[in-house]
Amino acid sequence: MSNVILMTGVGSYLPKNKFSNIDLTKFIDTSDEWITKRSGIKNRHYVSEDELTSDLAVKAALSAIKMSNLKPDDIDMIILATTTPDNTFPATATKIQHKLSIKGIAFDVQAVCAGFVFALSVASSMMKDNHSKNCLVIGADSMSKLLNWKDRTTSVLFGDGAGAVILQKNFDINKNSDWGILSNVIHSDGNFYDLLYTNGGPSLNKKTGTIEMVGKEVFKHAVEKLCSSFEEALSSCNKSIADIDWFVPHQANQRILSAVSDRLKIDKAKVISTVAFHGNTSAASIPLALDYAIADKKIKNGDLIGFQAIGGGLSWGSSVIRFGQPQNK
Ligand SMILES: CC(C)(COP(=O)(O)OP(=O)(O)OC[C@H]1O[C@@H](n2cnc3c(N)ncnc32)[C@H](O)[C@@H]1OP(=O)(O)O)[C@@H](O)C(=O)NCCC(=O)NCCS
Repeated sequence: MSNVILMTGVGSYLPKNKFSNIDLTKFIDTSDEWITKRSGIKNRHYVSEDELTSDLAVKAALSAIKMSNLKPDDIDMIILATTTPDNTFPATATKIQHKLSIKGIAFDVQAVCAGFVFALSVASSMMKDNHSKNCLVIGADSMSKLLNWKDRTTSVLFGDGAGAVILQKNFDINKNSDWGILSNVIHSDGNFYDLLYTNGGPSLNKKTGTIEMVGKEVFKHAVEKLCSSFEEALSSCNKSIADIDWFVPHQANQRILSAVSDRLKIDKAKVISTVAFHGNTSAASIPLALDYAIADKKIKNGDLIGFQAIGGGLSWGSSVIRFGQPQNK
């Protein structure tokens, strides 16, 4: 009996409040030109006052469940990657579970902008260990809650949003059939804790804190570690750059996306870039970009896709998946 983990549904949600670079110039000493040139970002969306990370997550989750032709009832595990939970505890995944009336296991994963790739890794391992047959993996963040509006280097880069995928364990497909999650590599190195962090936390000072970042250092690590982990993910499933149909990287910064594709010699036409539309939405960015590319009729059932992400910790990782499911089972 094989245990192929298919990705059968994707959904996403952006809050209604949209802020362009020009809008930001009304309260931050910045310019459209600077933000565009340094990051490629044009717009970002912010939650409204009464809108929670769990609200964004539920909307993305419902779309993903619909696409996979399941009902909330069919889901037996929820893993939420987030840095901005509704409450310090319990896990926001349990709030989502309540809102969707889902039974089973629900917990959060914290790997900041690498959270979605970490959650995928945890999900596929747990599914192979028989904890779940149909798993909802969500990346959702309200990064606007962690911004210091007086720090123009960080405040212009982040936005809010959610993306979700459905993973289904399939017993009918041959394990060697090349479908579903083919490889998943994750890494962390706490030596770089101080490069990207919040200056608050329940144990540190009972505050949420705001983002502190050594931008140039993070940039260098991002390019190097996204490249090395992606090469590792490819080699562990015997694939090459040329085999990949679409690259869906973490959407932090267009310059990082371009530097990684240059170094790995990836055809830029195969790189999904949505960073201009929503900025860095942390754990949400990969499933958001994936959903966008499916709606845009770029990514199709059966395409081979690469994910890459890095975030505070530093934590980083890459995945290779054959998206969707065989049509004539
Ligand atoms: C953040 C980042 C865009 C800053 O670019 P940079 O070239 O390193 O810029 P610096 O911080 O050296 O600042 C350069 C100048 O721009 C100015 N500046 C910074 N933010 C600005 C803004 N929003 N608007 C206008 N000017 C700004 C600085 O004050 C500085 O001016 P000075 O030369 O007169 O002192 C860049 O470091 C980066 O992309 N890092 C990676 C960030 C990231 O993606 N993190 C998330 C990973 S998950």
